[in-house]
Amino acid sequence: MQTVTLYPHMLHGCDYNPEQWFDRPEILSQDILQMQQANINCVSLGIFAWSVLEPAEGEYCFDRLAEIISTLYANGIRTVLATPSAARPMWMDMKYPEVRRVTADRIRVPLGGRHNHCYTSPVLREKVRAINTLLAKRFAHDPGVILWHVGNEIQGECHCGLCQAAFREWLKARYGTLDALNAAWWTSFWSNTYTDWAQIESPDPAGDTGIQGLALDWKRFCTAQTRSFLENETAPLRAENPLIPVTTNFMQFYDGVNYRALAKSLDVTSWDCYPTWHCTPDGDESGQACLADAFSDICRSMLKKPFLLMENTPSHTNWHAVCRPKTWGFHRLTAISAIAHGADSIQYFQWRQSRGGNEKLHGAVMTHANRTDTRVFQEVSDLGRTLQRLDAVCGARTNARIAILYDPESHWAVNAAKGPRNGDIGDTDLMMRFYLPFWKSGYAVDFVDAETDFSGYHLLCVPMLYMLRNDVAKRICDFVLLGGTAVLTLHSGIADEHDLCFMSDTPAQGLAELAGIRYLESDPLYDGQHETMHIVKAPFPLAESYRLEKLCERVAPAGAEVLGVYGTGNPCMPDDLPCLTRHAFGRGTAYYVGAFAEDRFFADFLPELAERLGVRPVLDTTFPHGVAAAARQGLDGTEYLFIMNWTREQKSVNLPYALKDFESGKIYQSKLPLSPYGAKILVKA
Ligand code: GLA
Ligand code: ZN
Repeated sequence: MQTVTLYPHMLHGCDYNPEQWFDRPEILSQDILQMQQANINCVSLGIFAWSVLEPAEGEYCFDRLAEIISTLYANGIRTVLATPSAARPMWMDMKYPEVRRVTADRIRVPLGGRHNHCYTSPVLREKVRAINTLLAKRFAHDPGVILWHVGNEIQGECHCGLCQAAFREWLKARYGTLDALNAAWWTSFWSNTYTDWAQIESPDPAGDTGIQGLALDWKRFCTAQTRSFLENETAPLRAENPLIPVTTNFMQFYDGVNYRALAKSLDVTSWDCYPTWHCTPDGDESGQACLADAFSDICRSMLKKPFLLMENTPSHTNWHAVCRPKTWGFHRLTAISAIAHGADSIQYFQWRQSRGGNEKLHGAVMTHANRTDTRVFQEVSDLGRTLQRLDAVCGARTNARIAILYDPESHWAVNAAKGPRNGDIGDTDLMMRFYLPFWKSGYAVDFVDAETDFSGYHLLCVPMLYMLRNDVAKRICDFVLLGGTAVLTLHSGIADEHDLCFMSDTPAQGLAELAGIRYLESDPLYDGQHETMHIVKAPFPLAESYRLEKLCERVAPAGAEVLGVYGTGNPCMPDDLPCLTRHAFGRGTAYYVGAFAEDRFFADFLPELAERLGVRPVLDTTFPHGVAAAARQGLDGTEYLFIMNWTREQKSVNLPYALKDFESGKIYQSKLPLSPYGAKILVKA
């Protein structure tokens, strides 16, 4: 996809739903002035506006929308124009039941709601295509429109007859014959052999959920169907004006579809960020912050370019168990951190609190009191002023030499498999144990999947790559052969793309040879049980021992040096079983971590390893606990450094060289003070 930026400024925007206020002109007439006071420069319009845009079938009413877009534009506010497909009008649900989703337990949803349609329904696709074509004709050349926001949080799956039929066609194209499908799905097990394509149905909680090849292909099909639905939406938009970029907003760690596949149909990725801030007893927000930043890095890595933070709340989210507002100054901190990790926008759900309905108590820039002298309004407005000064950061790159391989398809498969630890195999947890120390010490990280080109990285972390697909094993080996360093872990290289186990030593397809080890057995632990890793040969300073949990894998060395061994207190077990190894391979090195080691291990191990590979953090210093940093390189080469304090204590960072506060111009020679929940944007002095 080409990069198109119609509005080369940091976006500061919000979901704007004027249709909720059509009967309150006095409210609508205040909006623009108040938005200007809040330093809002764009709004997302029309996300749930289908029933207003097409109140009856084929009767389109865009005049009101046109008027709003042009008034906004005349007042310096651009429009991110949504296609309205995230919620359907009642007339459609009533007349065409096929547009309504059928759930996994085979119930067709009633009228109404949102995010609940059938992605296959020809009627719905046609209705979407029709309204999008007309929206594009009317607005794709409007100077106020800078981006298409397609649907909203596209999600879920439909199990209707149309989807079942499409699934069978998809399977026919994939396998050709039932024999090939039966072989791939191992259906001779439990007498599940299919003798007619018509016997194949999507997974059903009341039926057989044990054919894992079926479950996996169903998820792939849902991804393909969602993507083709998305492309059906974008085709008329792009046909009218290919220069307007297209996005759809992702949800943090949602795994119902493969977002990396969807991203291939987008010009820019975006996501909606709603962490449960302020849920710790001590005010240390670094846990939530690290998860949010990881997803920002995932989102940025998909197209390897900046993303948009399409939604966040300026105060509180109303669907959390406890809906705490962001505390004083905290909103700025979260925004700066998103920008640090590649965001080119900070956008809100929503501009004005709804008066009724499901989200009337959700945080918004304007509350029911309709006041601009609130703390939230002030903080939003202040942030807008900061963003106005960040044009140079807009489009700025992230230069990561470290990649974490987190493959969505492997994630599906390892979580669907029965054993060795049911309910919590922990692949995402292990991935975050790798990410955390890099985040804490200021290393830029990209996320890659089994399809990504690994060249350009120095260190490739491969936590729990259960499934090997798409040549990934060979490409990991080649990466190391050519001088890269890879860190492999337990429970990797077990199954192929059909989730069929490899009939060989594992990790299969050359990864055992790469790591210089051979898998013997898995020993999962109950919660609360632990083993110990004793370091016997430290490649660089490490502690004597580390705690292990969840899942320990016994391996035999086959060429690798043993760096750490298991200590279990179990007198029956040999005391030299390796759990940390190193193996020189070609011009590079492969490490193997055999168990879920505690965070302290990864904190000691990974940054040291990176440092030895010549990879530098964004600032050469030791950050105090709760302080994190990230950097972006502007188009003119300027390096922008962002330092965030996620604690409510005052912190101080030792500086290796003088830095200038980008906002105030103040120079810091050797120490940077950070106020509680403070964030600074800095450049070299
Ligand atoms: C999602 C949706 C929004 C709104 C917010 C509330 O992100 O996209 O429409 O419902 O949640 O947090
Ligand atoms: Zn369907």
